[in-house]
Amino acid sequence: MKLQLNLGMTGPTKADYIVVGTHSTDGKITKSNWSKEVKEAFDNCTLSKDFDGSKGSDLTFDMDQGRVLVLGLGDKKSYNSESVRHIAALVINALKTKAKSISVQIDTLAVKGNLELTASLLTESMRMTDYVFDQYLAKKATNKIKTVNLDSKAKKTTAKKVQKAIDEAEMVASSVNVARNFVNEPPNVLNSETYAKMVEKDAKNIKGVKVKTLGLSDLKKEKMGMFLSVNAGSAFGPRLVHLTYTPSKVTKNTKHIALVGKGLTFDTGGYSLKPGGSMVNMKFDMAGSSTVYGAFRAAAMLGLPVKISCFLGMTDNAVNEKATMPDAIVTARNGKTVEILNTDAEGRLVLGDVLSYASDLKPDTLIDAATLTGACLVALGTEVGGLMSNDNKLATKLLKSAQNTDENLWQLPIIDQWRDDMKSNIADLKNIGSNRFGGTAKAAAFLENFVGEGISWAHLDIAGVGDSQAHLPYCPKKGGSGIMIRTLVDFMKNTK
Ligand code: BES
Ligand code: ZN
Ligand code: ZN
Repeated sequence: MKLQLNLGMTGPTKADYIVVGTHSTDGKITKSNWSKEVKEAFDNCTLSKDFDGSKGSDLTFDMDQGRVLVLGLGDKKSYNSESVRHIAALVINALKTKAKSISVQIDTLAVKGNLELTASLLTESMRMTDYVFDQYLAKKATNKIKTVNLDSKAKKTTAKKVQKAIDEAEMVASSVNVARNFVNEPPNVLNSETYAKMVEKDAKNIKGVKVKTLGLSDLKKEKMGMFLSVNAGSAFGPRLVHLTYTPSKVTKNTKHIALVGKGLTFDTGGYSLKPGGSMVNMKFDMAGSSTVYGAFRAAAMLGLPVKISCFLGMTDNAVNEKATMPDAIVTARNGKTVEILNTDAEGRLVLGDVLSYASDLKPDTLIDAATLTGACLVALGTEVGGLMSNDNKLATKLLKSAQNTDENLWQLPIIDQWRDDMKSNIADLKNIGSNRFGGTAKAAAFLENFVGEGISWAHLDIAGVGDSQAHLPYCPKKGGSGIMIRTLVDFMKNTK
């Protein structure tokens, strides 16, 4: 599917389908941005008399340049960026089986009269909607659409800016789709060893990016006792993929952001085995790592003027005769001892050591993402991500970025009682709280112990939003969502 920007258009490019939007007030539709010929064809269509332009309504009729699909956008006041994404998804889903070419009249879908923004949102959503995971299907999904014309009457002199917005949206959306692919790969294909290779391969050709991967002996040297305890029962070696992006210009003021992701390629629970029903889909327990990788990838491709280090902690949580037993006490990289009372609370063990490793670089900001707790789904549902931080300024910036990208993020507090609850009588810490309440923020209270002194840190719990966002038309009903990548990219864009 090719997206073709056509500026200086007085009418639609000839195509199988021509898409036009209209707002309505009290059943009266506006045709202010329509071309003369579309207006005439609409007025000549008898059915158009009944079309009220309300949100979700549509009308189809024919004209010389192609079949016209008019989409009701409802009241202009409630039309926003997310509305544009929804319209773009609707267009792709409605026409992918019907049209080889479509011409979208983008002026008629404009939000805030901003063409760059509109083109960017349309591109982002169309690419995200077009995503399918069909590697393992004999019958591949089909999208007949080969060309999407983005037609506008705007002057050709604005072409550079609008094209740039489209290209940048392509980079973000393709990174979302790469991350989704990683999540959707089954655990018999994607394990820590193969996953690390896949990331290395993907990152290889991005300008300014270097990759270094640590394996078992390196983690032993680093004394990552928590990470290693999770990997103890695995048939595969642990991997810590360390990616670095250096912008083309670096000064002493260049900010350094470190990203850390939970890469549990499968979480059986270990000896604290998950019941069968809860274990299904635990291939997605690496979504935190694919999220931070996706954000890193997009930021590097965009050439953002920040330095970014990205750390992906990869292993599965499996059971064999060497697997860690509950009651084990291990020593973390930073020297703290941890009593493992539940081997299913494994993500925090991997993340803790990786956070400590990342802290050595003394980044200005440290952000981790993880499918860390089932409790996050209880607290915030499956549509809202959890945010916890030791720095309210950073939390506010991340919340703003989530708002900018229409992703749902909500902050939970970390309080001293929960910090205390993570202390053990016979070790410095224990890996679960004394009851199941407040589980999401107690996990954050645990992680906080491994963040270097004075480092501004935030933790994103994406257990709910990491997959199966069926309510979003630009996300697959099942499988990796890529949600929170756009928030992180926006945050990095705004870091100066
Ligand atoms: N990967 C899970 C968290 C999870 C559970 C994500 C359900 C999505 C859906 C994590 O490793 C885990 O098992 N956490 C435990 C922690 C508990 C033992 C304190 C949980 O949430 O039950
Ligand atoms: Zn677990
Ligand atoms: Zn897990």
